[in-house]
Amino acid sequence: MDTYLDNNKEIEERASDLLLRMTIEEKILLLRGKDFWTTNSIERLKIPSFGMTDGPLGVAAHSSFKGKRTRFPATIGLAATWNKELAYQMGKAIGKETKLAGRHQILGPGVNLIRSPLCGRNFEYLSEDPILSSELGAELVKGIQSEKTASCIKHYITNNSETKRMKISTEISERALQEVYVKNYKRIIEKADPWGLMVCYNKINGTYGAENKYILRDILRDQLHFTGHVVTDWGASRGAVEGAAGCIKAGLNLEMPGLFLAKTLKPKKVMKAINEGKIIEADIDYVVKPLLRTFFRVGLFDHPTPKTQKIIDIQEHQAIAQAVAEESMVLLKNDGHILPVNLEKTKKFAIMGPNAKKIFGKYLQGGSSAAVPPRFVTPYDGITKFIGEKGEIVEEPEDADIVFLILGLDHGSNMLKAMLTKMEGDTEGKDRTKYNLPDDQMQLFYDTIQRNSNTVVILIAGSPIDCAPFLEKSPALLNAWYPGMMGGNALARILFGEISPSGKLPVTFPKKLKDHPAHLSKDRFPGDLKNLKIHFDEGIYIGYRYFDKENVVPQFPFGYGLSYTTFELSNLRLVKAQIASSGTFNVSVDVKNTGSIAGSEVIQIYLADDEATVERPLRELQGFGKVHLVPGETKTVIITLEKSAFEFYSVKDHKFIAESGGFTIYAGTSSRDLPLNINLQYQT
Ligand code: BGC
Repeated sequence: MDTYLDNNKEIEERASDLLLRMTIEEKILLLRGKDFWTTNSIERLKIPSFGMTDGPLGVAAHSSFKGKRTRFPATIGLAATWNKELAYQMGKAIGKETKLAGRHQILGPGVNLIRSPLCGRNFEYLSEDPILSSELGAELVKGIQSEKTASCIKHYITNNSETKRMKISTEISERALQEVYVKNYKRIIEKADPWGLMVCYNKINGTYGAENKYILRDILRDQLHFTGHVVTDWGASRGAVEGAAGCIKAGLNLEMPGLFLAKTLKPKKVMKAINEGKIIEADIDYVVKPLLRTFFRVGLFDHPTPKTQKIIDIQEHQAIAQAVAEESMVLLKNDGHILPVNLEKTKKFAIMGPNAKKIFGKYLQGGSSAAVPPRFVTPYDGITKFIGEKGEIVEEPEDADIVFLILGLDHGSNMLKAMLTKMEGDTEGKDRTKYNLPDDQMQLFYDTIQRNSNTVVILIAGSPIDCAPFLEKSPALLNAWYPGMMGGNALARILFGEISPSGKLPVTFPKKLKDHPAHLSKDRFPGDLKNLKIHFDEGIYIGYRYFDKENVVPQFPFGYGLSYTTFELSNLRLVKAQIASSGTFNVSVDVKNTGSIAGSEVIQIYLADDEATVERPLRELQGFGKVHLVPGETKTVIITLEKSAFEFYSVKDHKFIAESGGFTIYAGTSSRDLPLNINLQYQT
C-alpha cells in the first residue's frame, strides 16, 4: 500500500509521501477552492474533496446543504459562562455535527477580540480580554478536533469591526499587535494546536492579511509555530497587490471560494508566476504541505465523507446548548431581591417586548454564522411553559404582578438586507452606530415601567448596550445574550430560581460611548473612512485595561455579574515552589457560599507588575475558575497560572520577556471587586 494511504503511518510521513507523488499542476489545483465550500478532488491520487461549513454558533445552514442543526448560544454568551468544560462540550458537539452534516471543517470559532461595543459581529466573538478569549477559544478548538473535525480560528488578525472590512487598514503598533491580538492566537495555538485559521479581509499596517508575510509567516509560522493551514476569508485575497506570488510567498495555503469572488490563485496565474521566476516549486510545496496535513488529520483518506444528514436533532447537544445558556446569563441589577420570582406568591405575569417571541436562527440571519435549529424555544415559550397552571399570563402591564420586558437587538432578516437598511443590530457586514437601544424600544420601556414598576428588563443581544435608563428605573436587569435554541427554557429556570445566575461580563459596558478607548476619536472607530485607516491608538489598553488605567468608572466592569446568593473569598495563597520548576504555578482561594441558595461563582485572578521597566496595564486577568456551592459550603479553588503571565512584549527584543521583581496577585469576583491580594517576588 502507498504510504500516504496507510493509516497506520504517521501523519507527517503520509503528507510528505503524498507531496512527493504530486505533479506541480496537482499541487496548484489544491490551492484554490472548487466551489463555495469544497476543494478540488484529484482522481489520480484518490484525493477526495475537503468540505467546509460556517460556524461558530453551530453548523450553519447555508454552507451545509440547508440542513437544520443545533443552534447554540452566541459565542459571547459562552464566554460569559467562564466555563472551560462547557466550551469543550459545545466544541465537541459542533465537531460531531459538522461531520454529520457532511463537512470536514467548521469555520470557527470566531476569536476576534471585542474592541468596541459597536462591532456588528461581537456576538460571534468571545471577549475583550485575550486570556479569557484564548482559554475558551482553545477549549472550543479541542472539543471540535476531538471529533476529527478541523477547527478554523478566525479572522486573523485585527478584523475587529465590520465597516469597510474589505478595504480598511488597521494601523497598530508592534507592541499592541503582539501583546493583545497575537497573544490571543498564541495561547490558542499553544494549548489546542488548531488545524485551520482564516485570514482576515482587512489590511494590517497597509498590507492585506492574505499577502502579509509578517503576519502569516514571520508571526504565525516562525513565532507561533502554527501547524495547520491558512484559508482566506471568502474573497479576502482578491485585493492582493502582488497577486499569486505575493500570497504564496506570504504563506497562504488556500484561497476561497473557488468561484468569482476570488481569482488570485487560479492555476493559470500561479503557473505564470512560476514561469516568470517569481516563485519556485519549493514555495508551492511550503503552502501545500499544511493543507495535506489537515486532510490527514481529519481522516479524509481513511473514512469516506459521510452523507449529509438533513436534520440533526440530537437531544444531548441541545442539553449542552441549554447548559451554556443557563450559565451565560448575567444578572446586572436585582433590587429588593425581586428575582427569583416565587411562583407560590406571584400569580400574574405580562411577557412583553420585541424579543419575547422572536425566533432567532433563520437562514443567513446575522450573516455567515446562522445555524438554523429544528425548533426554537423563545423566552415567551419557555416562561409560559414553566408557569403552566401555577399562574396567569396577562396582556396589560397594570394587570400583572410582574412584567418581563424582553428588549435588545437582533440580526435583521438576513445579512444582505441588514446591510442595505438602517437596521442597528448584531450582524456581519455592518457595525452599529449607536450605543443605546432603538427609540421605539426605549419608548416601550418608559411606558411599561410607568404602568408597572415591577418591570424586569431582560436583554437579548450580542453586544454591550447602554443600560443607564434601566439602572435608574427598573428593579432588575438580566442580560441573556442570544441564548440559542433552548434559551427560553434556560431563561425561565433563572427567573424562577431553579438555578442562580452565574454569568460574568466578558466585556466592559461603558457609561457613555466616549468613555470607551475605541471611541475617543472617529479615527479609532469606525476609522478614518476617507483614507481607509482604522487607528488602534489605545494600544495595549483595550477594554478594562483602559478603564483601570484612566480610572474611568464603567457602567458595568469586566467580569461583573450578580447571583441570588452571596460568596465570601478568603485565604489567597500561592504555591511558590512551583514557579521555577514547572513553568506554571498554582494560586488557591477559599470560597464560601454565605447565602441561602445554591449557586456558582467565578474566581478571577489578576496580576500586576509592580516594578516593570516599561509601562504596563494596572493589572490583567491571568486565570479563573468556576465553583458550585450549596449554602454554607466552602471549597478551595485552585487556579493554575502560566509562567507567561509575567511576560510583556518587548519592542526592543521583538519578543515576549519577563522581568524579575515584585508582582501583586489579586483575587476577586470582577475586575473592580478584588478583595484579596498577595505579593510575590519573581525571579527570571
Ligand atoms: C465571513 C466568514 C465566513 C465566510 C464564509 C465571510 O464573509 O467573514 O466568517 O466564514 O464568509 O461564509
